[in-house]
Amino acid sequence: MKKNLGVFPAQFPMPVLIVAAYDEAGIPNAMNAAWGTICDSDKIALIIDEDHKTTKNIRVSGAFTVELADRKTMAPADFFGIATGNKMENKFEKSGMTCTKSAFVNAPVIDAFPVTMECELCEIVNSKSLHAVVGRIVNVAAEEAVLDSDGKIDPKKIDAILFDQFRAGYYSVGEKVGQAWQTGKALM
Ligand SMILES: Cc1cc2nc3c(=O)[nH]c(=O)nc-3n(C[C@H](O)[C@H](O)[C@H](O)COP(=O)(O)O)c2cc1C
Repeated sequence: MKKNLGVFPAQFPMPVLIVAAYDEAGIPNAMNAAWGTICDSDKIALIIDEDHKTTKNIRVSGAFTVELADRKTMAPADFFGIATGNKMENKFEKSGMTCTKSAFVNAPVIDAFPVTMECELCEIVNSKSLHAVVGRIVNVAAEEAVLDSDGKIDPKKIDAILFDQFRAGYYSVGEKVGQAWQTGKALM
């Protein structure tokens, strides 16, 4: 029997996305964002607070990157979600991460993360119940080590981490257990 637990965001798993952008002086900053999702084949929407330093940077630079955090980068990824560039001027430097300017957009690609979506700002949706930064993905860059023999990103090789908003844990991705658009065919 199901028990009623009240109101809270019970979606699981959540991604661990690192959103990075330059300020007006070209200083990189980054934040951790779980509330992000693909909203078209070339677009991503991030539900991020308008007062975050990263959001302010995106408004100024018109671009950002979204990185997938993996087990190796879990500590800096978490740090990006604890510290704020509004109060810590050298936040990015303190993370120990390095970055390279994207060849496609005016935004930093953080070197240590295995997969990066390079995005130009499409729009900021600011309505009564939503503040979303929507970006157009103009390139995806991935470490060669996470590609399969067909050149596609292999989820097992990314070793991505997931966020659990029930108990604030980070989890690793488990085994592949099925094939989408195939597993349900038996019921057709
Ligand atoms: C696991 C995790 C997930 C988070 N997800 C979000 C999110 O989806 N949206 C958001 O606005 N803030 C989120 N945060 C909080 C920001 O990352 C945090 O406030 C950060 O300090 C903002 O940094 P900035 O001000 O330097 O941009 C998350 C933090 C953590 C640790």
